[in-house]
Amino acid sequence: MRYDQKYAWSILLRLFHWSFALSIVALAVTGFYIHFPWTNTYLEGDSCFPVATMRYIHFIAGFVFTGAILTRIYLLFFGNKYERFWDFLPVTPKNIGNMVHTAKFYLYFTEKHRPRVGHNVLAGIIYIITFILALLQVLGGLYMLYPEHAALQKWGLLLLGPQQQARFLHYLFMWYFIIFASVHVYIVVWNDIKSKEGLISSIFTGTKYIPPDKV
Ligand code: HEM
Ligand code: HEM
Repeated sequence: MRYDQKYAWSILLRLFHWSFALSIVALAVTGFYIHFPWTNTYLEGDSCFPVATMRYIHFIAGFVFTGAILTRIYLLFFGNKYERFWDFLPVTPKNIGNMVHTAKFYLYFTEKHRPRVGHNVLAGIIYIITFILALLQVLGGLYMLYPEHAALQKWGLLLLGPQQQARFLHYLFMWYFIIFASVHVYIVVWNDIKSKEGLISSIFTGTKYIPPDKV
């Protein structure tokens, strides 16, 4: 069968993807440590300061994460047509059809894969939820970091509650990101094996392989 090479992901989206993915790994590891410092506490007394170091790395990664999610919000409105929210949410009959078909494909009810240049709509819904939680995670982080800032105090209190509750939610949301990342990597590998689009390489090169009549 003939496959055409289609440009799907802009360089900005790929930069977003990898800075988001790598910063989440750093944030989850250091976040775990802030929550439960597992090293022997006598280390704290000497010049190592492991908790301070972990917090420092957490904040640096936190700002990378913040830059990444703001970039993605920009792309939701001004990215190429596959990156805008309209393309991957169930808001048109075609997209609803794609969502239902993808669910059947994932549940092994059908073996027929429907190639698509952009995201499948089932993935798109999860990505939007992930972006909303990422914004809440940024708000929670900045709220804890700058508790005296008036706007952060107002929005932090409104959306996440008092500091202790916001901190607990920040911790709980970490589990969402860990579960999301694990399931996500499983699904992209599964898709890469089942279909011939070159899905994994697309997040490095920006291009996918689609039969000419299926665009
Ligand atoms: C080995 C590691 C990874 C690979 C090979 C990979 C691959 C991919 C691919 C191929 C896509 C596009 C798939 C689609 O159309 O749905 C994608 C999208 C995405 N990935 Fe990953 N991924 C990896 C790790 C991660 C991690 C750790 C995270 C974050 C926890 C992440 C977050 C995302 C997000 C949010 C999107 C949506 C992109 C967008 O439109 O904004 N990925 N990934
Ligand atoms: C996916 C993204 C993130 C994850 C998984 C994450 C995870 C965590 C975890 C697990 C904790 C410990 C909470 C506890 O003690 O129970 C924490 C603390 C904290 N995080 Fe994050 N975080 C993320 C993003 C951010 C961002 C974007 C910022 C903002 C710069 C930030 C700033 C903070 C601050 C200020 C603390 C409290 C540190 C302390 O009081 O010692 N985090 N984070």
